[in-house]
Amino acid sequence: MPNVKPPWWEGCVIYQLMPRSFHDADGNGIGDLAGITQKLPYLEWLGVDAIWLTPIYPSPLRDGGYDITDFTSVHPDLGDLRDVRLLLEQAHIHGMRVILDLVLNHTSVLHPWFQRALWAPKGTSERDFYVWRDDDQGYADAPVLFRHFEASNWEWNEVAGQFYLHRFLRHQPDLNYANPAVQEEMLKVVDFWLDMGADGFRLDAVPFLFEAEGSRCEGLPETHAFLRRLRARVESSGRDVLLLAEAIQPVDESAPYLANDELHAAFDFGLTAHLFAAVANGRSDALRDCLTHAQEMVPGCRWALPLRNHDELWLGDGHLVPDEVVETILNGFPGAREHWLNWGINRRLAPLLNGDARPNTLLHALIYSLPGLPCLYYGDELGMGDWPGLRDRDPNRTPMAWSRAPNGGFSSAPDPLLVLPPITSPGFDYRVVNVEVQQQLSGSLLNWHHRMLTSRRLLPALRYGDMVMIESGHPSVLCYARSCQERSDGEENLPAMTVIVAANLSGTGASTRLDLSPWQGHRMRETLWGCEFAPASPEWFAYLHAYGFFWWLVGE
Ligand code: GLC
Repeated sequence: MPNVKPPWWEGCVIYQLMPRSFHDADGNGIGDLAGITQKLPYLEWLGVDAIWLTPIYPSPLRDGGYDITDFTSVHPDLGDLRDVRLLLEQAHIHGMRVILDLVLNHTSVLHPWFQRALWAPKGTSERDFYVWRDDDQGYADAPVLFRHFEASNWEWNEVAGQFYLHRFLRHQPDLNYANPAVQEEMLKVVDFWLDMGADGFRLDAVPFLFEAEGSRCEGLPETHAFLRRLRARVESSGRDVLLLAEAIQPVDESAPYLANDELHAAFDFGLTAHLFAAVANGRSDALRDCLTHAQEMVPGCRWALPLRNHDELWLGDGHLVPDEVVETILNGFPGAREHWLNWGINRRLAPLLNGDARPNTLLHALIYSLPGLPCLYYGDELGMGDWPGLRDRDPNRTPMAWSRAPNGGFSSAPDPLLVLPPITSPGFDYRVVNVEVQQQLSGSLLNWHHRMLTSRRLLPALRYGDMVMIESGHPSVLCYARSCQERSDGEENLPAMTVIVAANLSGTGASTRLDLSPWQGHRMRETLWGCEFAPASPEWFAYLHAYGFFWWLVGE
């Protein structure tokens, strides 16, 4: 039996939260680190393994905190370094890890490095912390990423008398990784948070670190070389740390970040789009191909699987997924087109699904049982709504609904002081959709998540098993087996196990035959309720309700 302690992040369930919108401990209307610490018992009960905090650093907040002015301290609204330490300590006591957002590619224009660069003479290392040119014609093949806000990747600066490069917004100048001093500074940032006890980093916008004429300036060999340096630096700390890449690209293009000991995991946003498309058209074939392809590119449990996050639901411009997939989604979800922003649909999960809990639970049952790191966005465990009409991506970033108390129990501040308004729209009102109420209702979405995550903990095959597709014979039914060998993680022996998953992606019931010949004669027990089915056979019969799913444990 292999006796290796697996890395903590293997198959972990990640809960993403926006610190400013989660819980306000000091009553000033803005969520804070102490507020998160107070809510750790809730997250432990829910059953997640790790918490990912979107940026906590000082920032003018012109891009949700992704415009940073100091990489090694905390935005005063959120607390200070002592609060980070306490949060990390307490999270560990509650059995959870903490992942920080690390924005490698750019800073705010207000970062002292940029201010210093403006005044530094041309050709000095200080000036060269950023990428400058005398005209705005450089790197013409690099697409403008935020083309809804920006017409060019270059911005003129009067003080410097030059243009600077910004792949994102004009107030987010790109750091110049060709300058060794920049690399060194960013590695020091990593050391700083590792010393503090951080368990991992979500690496924002990794493809864009280096530039080269005649290229799209994405995923260049120099960028990979730096990421390998980063990995080596993290390894040298001797700590077990997750490096999770955000690259909004098809798996063929994000797989290289996982090769050659570079990063540990990367988001599969193409899969996210395919999951929504499959629910929209009730077909499993394209989803199955997409899953198979991701496993061919990088086998095992290294793809992070979000349904939603703090950005729009990225569908892209025909690059991430084919146009038909985008059309299927836009036609399948009423109102989706009206909520288009930048690269996708600017809605939370539950309102996008029109409040229907069935596709909602189905999609989560899939990410909780596919190989990878399932990511749950705060509030989605409740089916929380959004506030269309707020600026930019704020509709998806509103305060967490904790209770029926004023402001949904998020803050005791008078409501004009709140960071964003709590949801009171019909069907999603915080007086109904909140943690306190849903914990008391046994059939609630929240209790469903708790039960699913508790079951998942007991099923190591879902955490790190391999995946084999099973022929279902029904166009709407996706079926796969997750199997793991017996192993010891140094503390306990984890048994060999197979779990078979079937999911009906359509809104009508489906009866199907499944080819379970590899398990012929074995017991089939449904994992959530323990219900015994007929023994496995080559033409095993199953009936699945509209958007229904099963996780069966295969017995002796
Ligand atoms: C990432 C973040 C997004 C941010 C962008 C620029 O894509 O998820 O919120 O606007 O990077 O930093």
